[in-house]
Amino acid sequence: KPVIFSGMQPSSDSLQLGNYIGALSQWTKMQEDYDAIFCVVNLHAITVPQDPAELVERTRRTAAQYIAAGIDPDKSTLFIQSHVPAHAELAWVLNTITGFGEASRMTQFKDKSQKNGADAASVGLFTYPVLMAADILLYQAESVPVGEDQRQHVELTRDLATRFNSRFGETFVLPEAQIPKTVAKIYDLQNPLAKMSKSAETEAGLIKVLDPAKVTTKKIMRAVTDDDNEIRFDRAAKPGVSNLLTIFSVLAERSVESIEEEFAGLGYGHLKKAVAEVVEGALAPVRERTDELMADPAELDRLLARGADRASEIATNTLNLVYDRVGLARR
Ligand code: TYM
Repeated sequence: KPVIFSGMQPSSDSLQLGNYIGALSQWTKMQEDYDAIFCVVNLHAITVPQDPAELVERTRRTAAQYIAAGIDPDKSTLFIQSHVPAHAELAWVLNTITGFGEASRMTQFKDKSQKNGADAASVGLFTYPVLMAADILLYQAESVPVGEDQRQHVELTRDLATRFNSRFGETFVLPEAQIPKTVAKIYDLQNPLAKMSKSAETEAGLIKVLDPAKVTTKKIMRAVTDDDNEIRFDRAAKPGVSNLLTIFSVLAERSVESIEEEFAGLGYGHLKKAVAEVVEGALAPVRERTDELMADPAELDRLLARGADRASEIATNTLNLVYDRVGLARR
């Protein structure tokens, strides 16, 4: 089976709906047909300041949400990035073949460092995409299921793999981003031109997987729409309504057209109420299961240790090969 690799940052107390729709729910489908490897990328999370105790808790909670959403630790390899030291080790080697200008062109770095001021941005944040390349290349992944915002990082990964292969001999498989068209970008409910994100300035437009139904419903009922009161998908003219239609369509597994037909002539209130129900239907079981998993930390840790053992085996092989190719003497 072809290998896929993907990961998420444990940088919040809950995943958000964009992570769930754009990534997690895609992964659960893919684990049947691929040799799937999923990682909680805590080394990436510390590229911006984190509270240490919270980070430990969030790392577990993120892993629990993967499983709760349907990632089966028997089918897929599920682990925590820092449990497999090869990630940091390969990242170092890749750093040495990454151009300074090349890394400077990463738009996510430019956005994040501009927001917080250049001095607040760490070198770790700068080299974040190189660590991501290491994640992917260690497992010789062919395909990387991610949302649209990660496309450029996967492109960089390909460039680094190509460069390494031509400099040191065939070593890495060239990975490809797998970005589902309709769900690649879920937007903020209050600002439907910006992607939904854990780091949004306000949480009013952010749906959190682990929030109680009441909170989520309220946010959906207050979602920004427009004033022509027509329920129709039109990304450019009606970004808010289109975002709600996307969410509805993906979670209910219905076509946008069938939803437009059902709600023809009805007001936005009707649509929002239906969206809230569909969202709750999808998230309630994830929430319950996450609570159960978090109530038995020993079992969760056991599953994650097993995943780390499996991942380590593959990662160590690749790293040894890389060290040989580069000429790093082995002990
Ligand atoms: P992260 O933690 O920001 O997001 C995890 C995944 O969720 C997707 N996503 C979205 N999809 C649709 N709409 C949205 N509003 C939305 N917000 C987030 C992201 O595209 C991503 O797929 N750098 C990565 C983590 C990472 C990684 C990797 C991914 C580290 N190493 C190796 C793949 C392979 C990140 O910060 O994702």
